[in-house]
Amino acid sequence: QDKRESLYVLSAWASKFFKDEMWTTEMGQVIGLHYFKERGYREDIIKKFELGYSPDNWTALVDAATKAGFHPDYLKEIGLAIERDDKSLYDRFRGRVMFPIHNLTGRVIGFGGRTLKTDKKVPKYVNSPESDIYHKSDVLYGLNFAKKAIMEEDNCYLVEGYADVISTHQAGVENVVSSSGTSLTTAQIRLIARFTKNVTILYDGDEAGIKASLRGTDMLLEEGLNVKILLFPDGNDPDSYVKTYGSSVFKSYIKENQQDFIFYKTRILLRDTNNDPIKRAEVIRDVVESIALIPDEIKVSVFIRECSNLLDIEERILLSELNKIRISKS
Ligand code: GTP
Ligand code: MN
Ligand code: MN
Ligand code: MN
Ligand code: MN
Repeated sequence: QDKRESLYVLSAWASKFFKDEMWTTEMGQVIGLHYFKERGYREDIIKKFELGYSPDNWTALVDAATKAGFHPDYLKEIGLAIERDDKSLYDRFRGRVMFPIHNLTGRVIGFGGRTLKTDKKVPKYVNSPESDIYHKSDVLYGLNFAKKAIMEEDNCYLVEGYADVISTHQAGVENVVSSSGTSLTTAQIRLIARFTKNVTILYDGDEAGIKASLRGTDMLLEEGLNVKILLFPDGNDPDSYVKTYGSSVFKSYIKENQQDFIFYKTRILLRDTNNDPIKRAEVIRDVVESIALIPDEIKVSVFIRECSNLLDIEERILLSELNKIRISKS
């Protein structure tokens, strides 16, 4: 417990270090702050999300932390420093813009650092490793800022990245969280379910986003959540869409283009069948499998009816498929 408290204190200190580097040093302003402003982030938003900059130097943070009296073991433990073979330490985050990750109570527990290089060989994001205070699978980026709006709106938007959370906030849509590029976990879903039963997926409009939407969603259905989805046109993500079209177009777009996940899945899968009967049969089974996960019987019967229209297949056939799936699972 003592150790975890020390790790929290160190994380908060590091967050302040990255903020100070960005706001008060020449390099930080010219490179880091300039980057965020180019992305269109307002100063109040940059401050709210405690964004920062890690100097392009091997030991800037290690040196400052050591001087401030932090034990090297803790720097390693929390992944701010990496140990070389000769036991010397160097900074994990170098020359990156920094997104602190907060827990539900708003304490910093880790970081995502984005490169400023366009070189495809460097990883775009480097993230803190797991530690005693940071368990990736239990954390949703932005939830501390979003929880109040999620309750008020009785809905939670799920996006892919840090930048998407920040841009949607700036656009005035605050009930947004991100699983930061990893697939959703049951723990994350239960975290959302504490605040609302309604989730809308706003993933990137690229192939990866479509795949992720089909992968992560069965778990949401199993947990009894109502799932809607919307993809952005032309490979946009929420962040790039807001930037291109502005807040008010963004807000009406997400209001008007949400569709129920089951119907979305049916349409997406049907799209690729070219009316091949065998493929169609697979789609029917796949869709009914998702419907079978929904705990609420009334919702199940509504989906069966509507999908029978979409799939152009008799309701009783879908129902018998549903029963087969249930029997095989019980
Ligand atoms: P921007 O280019 O800054 O707008 O990022 P993005 O959020 O649009 O990135 P992208 O859609 O490519 O990926 C979504 C999320 O996946 C990011 O926000 C990160 O959390 C994560 N991610 C992306 N690239 C990497 C990477 O190279 N390494 C790791 N570990 N995570 C990544
Ligand atoms: Mn633990
Ligand atoms: Mn993407
Ligand atoms: Mn993206
Ligand atoms: Mn993006």
